[in-house]
Amino acid sequence: MSAHDFKAAAARHALGFVAPRMRLGLGTGSTAAIFVELLGAEVRKGLSVLCVPTSEQTRVLADRLGIPLTTLDETPLLDLTIDGADEVDGELRLIKGGGGALLREKIVATASDRMIVIADASKKVDKLGAFPLPVEVVPFGVTATRNMIEMLAADSGCHGDIVLRLAADGNPFVTDGGNLIFDCAFGAIDDPESLDEALKFIPGVVENGLFLGIADAAIIGGPEGVAVIEAKYGESQEAV
Ligand code: A5P
Repeated sequence: MSAHDFKAAAARHALGFVAPRMRLGLGTGSTAAIFVELLGAEVRKGLSVLCVPTSEQTRVLADRLGIPLTTLDETPLLDLTIDGADEVDGELRLIKGGGGALLREKIVATASDRMIVIADASKKVDKLGAFPLPVEVVPFGVTATRNMIEMLAADSGCHGDIVLRLAADGNPFVTDGGNLIFDCAFGAIDDPESLDEALKFIPGVVENGLFLGIADAAIIGGPEGVAVIEAKYGESQEAV
């Protein structure tokens, strides 16, 4: 079985948490896209849901599948957000933003009663940080902001390359909000809460990819089946 199969198993399992008439946040990335495809099939069979996408990419996909969409302004409270992650640790702390949608993802997830992460087993880590932490910044004063990130991250014990993300055409990657992203290769992040707090001090930083205390559960697909990690309730193993 491939990583795609494990992602699909997690996405399929997550459908079980969706109930009729729910207001849903739809995540971004390859795992979330599988979930959106599966949800679209349920909608075509008659499931009634109303969804807020976390990116233009997801909006286009969901729209094509005929999934009823709204905006967070029209529907500011959601029942459930289902989204992928780049890393998830045992305390359900996440790194997100590999797909560049971290700001909308964090806004939508925190506007939801519950957030459930779907991922293949490669995303489950003991300690966050092997995946470079995405930090979204406003374009104005980007070099000063980069230097501040370096300085304050070092105060939190984090050192490493801080690289402006480029798009496929070689130009800076621009987020849906018109911002830029620094990918910060800090390696193991010993104290994510302290790093998160430090990054929030920097005026040019819009958000960072640490999702702390936001996820309520993670559904991890792997060779052994699907593991569901619930916040505070430990881990249970179920068959795919
Ligand atoms: C998007 O910005 C990210 O937060 C994604 O959720 C994350 O990169 C996971 O993507 P995959 O499911 O493609 O690995």
